[in-house]
Amino acid sequence: MVAAMSDTVQAIRWENNHLVLLDQRILPRDIRYLSLDTCQETTQAIKDMVVRGAPAIGISAAYGIVLAARQRWRESPATWRQNLQQDLEELAASRPTAVNLFWAIDKMRRIIEKLPVGQNPEKALLEAAQQIHRDDIEANKTMGELGAALINQPCAVLTHCNAGALATGGYGTALGVIRSASAAGNVQHVFADETRPWLQGARLTAWEMVQENIPVTLLCEGASAWLMRQKKVAWVIVGADRIAANGDVANKIGTYNLAVNARHHGVKMMVVAPTTTIDMEIADGSAIPIEQRSQDEVLNVNGQPMAATGADAWNPAFDVTPAALIDAIVTERGVIFQPDSVKMAAVMENG
Ligand code: MRU
Repeated sequence: MVAAMSDTVQAIRWENNHLVLLDQRILPRDIRYLSLDTCQETTQAIKDMVVRGAPAIGISAAYGIVLAARQRWRESPATWRQNLQQDLEELAASRPTAVNLFWAIDKMRRIIEKLPVGQNPEKALLEAAQQIHRDDIEANKTMGELGAALINQPCAVLTHCNAGALATGGYGTALGVIRSASAAGNVQHVFADETRPWLQGARLTAWEMVQENIPVTLLCEGASAWLMRQKKVAWVIVGADRIAANGDVANKIGTYNLAVNARHHGVKMMVVAPTTTIDMEIADGSAIPIEQRSQDEVLNVNGQPMAATGADAWNPAFDVTPAALIDAIVTERGVIFQPDSVKMAAVMENG
């Protein structure tokens, strides 16, 4: 079982032939797992933020395709492959920005195309999904070491959203670096933006840090420039949803604010993401699709209206940080300092 492979919290498990997801909408108040039986349920879970974070979305989609293949094979061994196409399209429409989703669908699609006619696809696809899951945890641990090596003296760091075990197969990207650097004695304190409107920082990052006994202090997003001004942090460390071929980074809305403020205050900016988050088809960040979510997420808190009636809201889920504001992109294949197209291509060819 994949759950045993990481010693951090597991957002995604394959158990008793089902996809089991930790419901991240209700953390940390409740720890509840949802057991999913179909690809449609998986698509809905991704849309509804039961599971979120780019790598975790990709891994869940891969398991969702296993469920789709099982269902379509049971319905019709002769036409399962054609019938599955609709499931893949629905999955691909669940969330537009995290490229790991499309990477995982493409990878599974290539396996599906190669399966011999008349062979039940479930076993081969489950093995592929579990491999994607294992590889992600492995990549996170490697990035943890590479990123931690950049933090060479004890300091405090600032992170945004949740790029931890919950957002990945396990261990985490930005929080993986923080875990490794904390174990080495070099991250002494973590400041976490609360991250409106879903509060991934307050609910998820703070929860992961508390569980690991890493001291964590929450901030309203608006406090980060003032924190930097007082020289309280040496690094901003974040994950990514999609990185363009020139090193521009799409990540949770508010990351761009942090990067501008970090450069102004002489704080270093580190982005931690596996190569499955890099989209070499997109030349620069201007072409990255940015998910627009419902106004209700901003106008309401916990389902209760809190804004003036008549006001509307703008709710882009992500923004794009230009490569020029990033000091280092940490991938499992190596660190890219001051990223640009040439350095990005060199790391991607090195696979
Ligand atoms: O809307 P979310 O919660 O899916 O957004 C998540 C992020 O922006 C993360 O920083 C990103 O996916 C990296 S997760 C390792």
